[in-house]
Amino acid sequence: MTDRKPALDDAYALQSRQDNQRLYAAWADTYDTAFAAAMDYQLPLHVVQRFLTLGGQGPVLDVGAGTGIVGQLFQENGSVVVDGTDISREMLAVAQAKGCYRSCFWGDLTDELPVAGNLYGAVVSSGTFTTGHVGPSAFHELLRVTARDGLVCVSVNAAHWQARGFADMVDELAPAIYDLSVVEVPIYGPKADGPHKDDISKILAFRKK
Ligand SMILES: C[S@@+](CC[C@H](N)C(=O)[O-])C[C@H]1O[C@@H](n2cnc3c(N)ncnc32)[C@H](O)[C@@H]1O
Repeated sequence: MTDRKPALDDAYALQSRQDNQRLYAAWADTYDTAFAAAMDYQLPLHVVQRFLTLGGQGPVLDVGAGTGIVGQLFQENGSVVVDGTDISREMLAVAQAKGCYRSCFWGDLTDELPVAGNLYGAVVSSGTFTTGHVGPSAFHELLRVTARDGLVCVSVNAAHWQARGFADMVDELAPAIYDLSVVEVPIYGPKADGPHKDDISKILAFRKK
């Protein structure tokens, strides 16, 4: 990346963990305004609404928490306890400062998260399974940290779902999960503009046996 301002196209072009960390370090301070507000970013709201519809219970782990928009929405919608984890320390610092997470900690979803066992009543994620390096194999780690009967409720960009074979992963996980559902939602609202304004995400949800 050059020293110009980060933009949505940069996020869709991310391939590696290093690309990701460089982009989000530069984007953390302006992500909420220059991206989320400007693009009328609705995906975190859809994820939280889906969690509520499916009767999710805390404590919740928000994976790829970024600047904490999901945590803010949980705070506005009830009293569930939420922890946040992300590979970008700069994004997490913004989330932590909002005061809506019990704890924010660094973690790489493509490796082992620093979570000692199945501590969470639910794992949620918005916008992290988008493109690039976070593929379907990360679901093993989501399941590991989820309690028995706990809910996993995560968005997966529809194009990424297709390109990276998420359906095969769902098949592979079938013996370990139940109450599987997949819905499609618009990522952005009516005020969005540009080539990604009509992009779609799936929200995949299931419970752990
Ligand atoms: C598009 S942002 C979404 C942030 C927030 N959930 C939202 O909806 O606004 C994607 C986030 O995923 C994080 N991320 C990317 N790769 C990751 C990984 N391997 N482990 C943990 N977090 C990761 C990024 O650092 C970034 O904060």
